[in-house]
Amino acid sequence: MTQHIHVTTAERITTIRLDRPDKKNAITLEMYAAVSAALEAATGDPAVRAVVITGSRDCFTAGNDLGDFLRVAQGSGDTRGGVSFLRVLAAFDKPLVAAVAGVAIGIGTTMLLHCDLVYAAPTARFKTPFVDLALVPEAGSSLLLPALVGARRAAQLLLLGEQIDAQTALDWGLINGVTDDPEAAALAAARKLAGCAPGALRATRALTRRATHDAVLEAMRVEGEVFGERLRSPEAMEAFQAFLARRPADFSRF
Ligand code: COA
Repeated sequence: MTQHIHVTTAERITTIRLDRPDKKNAITLEMYAAVSAALEAATGDPAVRAVVITGSRDCFTAGNDLGDFLRVAQGSGDTRGGVSFLRVLAAFDKPLVAAVAGVAIGIGTTMLLHCDLVYAAPTARFKTPFVDLALVPEAGSSLLLPALVGARRAAQLLLLGEQIDAQTALDWGLINGVTDDPEAAALAAARKLAGCAPGALRATRALTRRATHDAVLEAMRVEGEVFGERLRSPEAMEAFQAFLARRPADFSRF
């Protein structure tokens, strides 16, 4: 479907790799569809016990493709790929482990909130610059991020759009560990999970999410409505055009 997503299954572990290095692994509609299909295939295959999601050695992902966002702002684009990816992600019922190196921006950070374990390289950088782009949080992050790191730190990420490094992410509880080889750490964890009783794993994962499950889906629904409105706003158009023209956005006229 797309050459930018590689999916392999070995030792009962499916590995999904984002691979669009010339664009910092920015995620296109086709890439969302391919990742969603890989997650759904993993759900339906009893031989798959865990999934690892990763990027390249120096980059996880720069988030949603901003060209795709600009097309939505201009009235010709489509957000369904990202929306259905988030639904599949939130419903995924097997252990999900992430390995992050380099930038994890926007959905690159918020998708981690749906992962059970996250390992990051010292190069990892986490950032959710939704407001910088005249957007709002997605993926349930308006609920999950304050719950995970606390309201004050969430404000640094979601309002100020601050970038945090791997050690800070570890200190804030956003990730499980910092290691020179996060993929090896993620695979080691996934191998351990793959050896566990699968029914117990799935049930434990569901139990640990039970208290927030419905609230997360509701947060995603409301975020989606506001996000859709914001995407089509003149403010967002200015932000996307500014990024693609490599100039600072100018919101002074709004
Ligand atoms: N969507 C589309 N293209 C993107 C992209 C994105 N989210 N992020 C990076 N790219 C492209 C750049 O346009 C550039 O393409 P070009 O070489 O054809 O001009 C290429 O990837 C390399 O990016 P560049 O900005 O030159 O690399 P950098 O090392 O200086 O900076 C980032 C890397 C990731 C910090 C920077 O590209 C960035 O801030 N990207 C946008 C992140 C973002 O806001 N994502 C959306 C969150 S909702």
